[in-house]
Amino acid sequence: MNAQPAPAAAVGDITAAVLARHGTGQDQLLPLLHALQDTLGYVPPGQVPAIAQHFNLSRAEVHGVITFYHHFRSAPPARCAVQVCQAEACRSMGAERLLAHAQEALGCGPHGHSADGAFSLAPVYCLGLCASAPALTINDAVFARVTPARFDRLVADATSTQATQAAMEAV
Ligand code: FES
Repeated sequence: MNAQPAPAAAVGDITAAVLARHGTGQDQLLPLLHALQDTLGYVPPGQVPAIAQHFNLSRAEVHGVITFYHHFRSAPPARCAVQVCQAEACRSMGAERLLAHAQEALGCGPHGHSADGAFSLAPVYCLGLCASAPALTINDAVFARVTPARFDRLVADATSTQATQAAMEAV
């Protein structure tokens, strides 16, 4: 499961520290965004003004860069990130149907989050398991020959693990 996001109060301090490690040249904007996401798990929209000021850019310019690249998240990552391969070999073995099933099961579109924020869903393009298509990942675990029924079992297992983890964190 992914790590818990930093407390909101610390986000500003963390952003300031990451900004301080980067120059103000606009060629540093992308490295800064990568560093911030590596540290916090996402690029907080509330920090866009500080980033814009650092680089002497408008907020709209910074927002435009963040939204241009699918890599950057504007919300904390879900505890359970699901990626469904949509490359050719997997498509020939039902990956489009599997992604549609995943969207319905999780209640979110591609590049979306489930309503409770527990799951994110994203298409990816080849996981190196073409001979065992269709493939997907749940966090760092890779699964091959996934049917919709098996997807439901994998999600149930992940949900159960999340519930156990949440209970342990509450102790
Ligand atoms: S095409 Fe899906 S794993 Fe390669």
